[in-house]
Amino acid sequence: MRLLSYLTLSSGLFCSAIQAASYSVNSPDGAIKFTISDSQSQPQYNVSFNNKPLLNTSKLGFEFKHAAPMKENLEISASATSSYQQTWQQPWGEARLVTDHHNELAVTFKDKDSKDTAFTLRVRVFNDGLGFRYEVNQSNALYITKELTEFNFADSHNSTAWWIPARGWNRYEYTYNTTPLQQAAHVHTPFTLKNADGVHVSVHEAALLDYAAMTLNQRRPGTFVADLTPWSDGIRVKTNGKFKTPWRTLQIGDEAIDLLNSHLILNLNEPNKLGDVSWVEPGKYLGIWWGMHIGKNTWGSGEKHGATTEQTKAYLSFAAEHGFDGVLVEGWNIGWDGDWFYNGDVFSFTQAYPDFDMKAISEHSKQVGARLIGHHETSGNVSNYRKQMHDAFELYQNSGVRQVKTGYVADGGNIKRIDERGHPRYEWHDGQFMVNEYLDNVKLAAKYQISINTHEPIKDTGLRRTYPNWLSREGARGQEFNAWGTPPNPPEHTPMLAFTRMLAGPMDFTPGIFDMSFNGLGDKTNRPQTTLAKQLALYVVLYSPIQMAADLPENYLAKPDAFQFIKDVPTDWETSIALAGEVGDYVVFARQERKRGQYTGNDWYLGAITDEHARSIDIKLDFLESNKKYEAHIYQDGEQAEWKHNPYDISINKRIVSAKDKLTLKLATSGGTAIRFKAI
Ligand code: NOJ
Ligand code: CA
Repeated sequence: MRLLSYLTLSSGLFCSAIQAASYSVNSPDGAIKFTISDSQSQPQYNVSFNNKPLLNTSKLGFEFKHAAPMKENLEISASATSSYQQTWQQPWGEARLVTDHHNELAVTFKDKDSKDTAFTLRVRVFNDGLGFRYEVNQSNALYITKELTEFNFADSHNSTAWWIPARGWNRYEYTYNTTPLQQAAHVHTPFTLKNADGVHVSVHEAALLDYAAMTLNQRRPGTFVADLTPWSDGIRVKTNGKFKTPWRTLQIGDEAIDLLNSHLILNLNEPNKLGDVSWVEPGKYLGIWWGMHIGKNTWGSGEKHGATTEQTKAYLSFAAEHGFDGVLVEGWNIGWDGDWFYNGDVFSFTQAYPDFDMKAISEHSKQVGARLIGHHETSGNVSNYRKQMHDAFELYQNSGVRQVKTGYVADGGNIKRIDERGHPRYEWHDGQFMVNEYLDNVKLAAKYQISINTHEPIKDTGLRRTYPNWLSREGARGQEFNAWGTPPNPPEHTPMLAFTRMLAGPMDFTPGIFDMSFNGLGDKTNRPQTTLAKQLALYVVLYSPIQMAADLPENYLAKPDAFQFIKDVPTDWETSIALAGEVGDYVVFARQERKRGQYTGNDWYLGAITDEHARSIDIKLDFLESNKKYEAHIYQDGEQAEWKHNPYDISINKRIVSAKDKLTLKLATSGGTAIRFKAI
């Protein structure tokens, strides 16, 4: 596959000819082509899709502290290709079976004079996109000051991009911007864009391990350069000279929903390293949680303390009665009094407030058959947490806890650690230090057969494949912003998440708010800016193996018919299909329940959501099994529904359907449709 091209450089009257090597690798279906070359002695690549340039010449390489850069005077010294096709199984997920079909090219660059090897670039090209990573194998320590990877978008004058800013005051909890591509400055990934011809691309990374997160900085119009999140001392990544970068990924499709039907990120992660993970359990949970966010309860002690023995027992009983697996309890441990946001050093992860009796609660939980879900809020003080982590997990394990939600509430760049010399250092949530810290937490939890749901996390890069106890995480604006955020999440927020944040992996968004009037209705108050039917549809649209029913039990009892959908909807899927959608506008997902344990059904579920525009969407039911009939339980916006003043108007009805039928989904402004197709 070697193509030798002769490139002529001319300047004035002088002409010189230099030899450049270039190698290409195509996706199995031939649509994506990745070419790498050493033209002008610089490592570089380009990508085409459907025979059109997608990325123009984009540079590769590194700069280091006290070591020669890897960017110039390099030539390709070796190359190898291979192909791979295999289907693997997830222990839990949005799909049970995942097919990994790709062609691989590995190209090694060496210095032209010294003949020392710089790095190997390994590229895998799939039908739904590609990933490439650097592999460096030096004997001396290397401190990366710059990764030079570029993404030079060929259609940048005409593209639209959806993005959140990187390295700002917050972590990832922003509303999304929709702008011409060239107006995006410094952004987080997944970074999704659309070209004039309708081709959609999302840039992200897979298998972020012992490295800093890649953010993207638009340095010249259309050219985004990797901008690795630094340590507090300014170094981007500290290595011993032997390292593999995360995969730099591009998901590529002819239309928006192709991005949602891609398994690229999972395929670029290593298989399960934990062995038997039957103790990792997907499921649904309630929580002593929303009450604190809307000010009904407090985390800290006092009259309004939420995490009391009495309230926790009542929640556990309610959960068990309605078929939920667990109850999250926040604020039971000492440290929440006063301004907890700034006082991470006072959190105890084992000592309870006097009105919370862990022993009695754990006994009650066994009796009724719903588990306590643990909580570790660190307020970003990771050294305080680390000291107590073993004991904290041990206590939970002894109390029957199988899942812990962690929290790293702190402003951007304000994660506090105490360094080797006893000095405080302040790190970013997505720098190399925290990348390792989050994973250490997950690995330690696995020793106690505990699964982790990280809030204020490092972004997801598919590590759930390697560490299946990393069940879910936040990493975007969740439901909580509707309680107190300025502004609350706008109607487009969730159809935006589907094509951006959700490409990274599961999110603990915490849907299901039934009482939207806690501050009154309209668009000027803090409240979910949705209809009730849309709250239901979110359970299908925003994938997570654990889903919260976020509202207070009394609000579910007040609307038992709508609550039925939350009770029915599973969180583990045999297969998932994005049927229709446009970024930030609307999206429709169908998912088939995964059979487990006692369950013998074969049901499908559908979720459709829209932004501020009402719309009707025609859907063919040809995803259903052709030889079966289904009873469709349809939860849709009522005739008069609209999110601002009439969010509760919902129509719930049943009809018999089969794969030959079509449905017209009528969504109100910021509305939704949720359907259970019950196999009969
Ligand atoms: C932020 C989390 O996202 C939220 O769910 C939690 O209740 C608070 N931190 C307190 O830990
Ligand atoms: Ca949060």
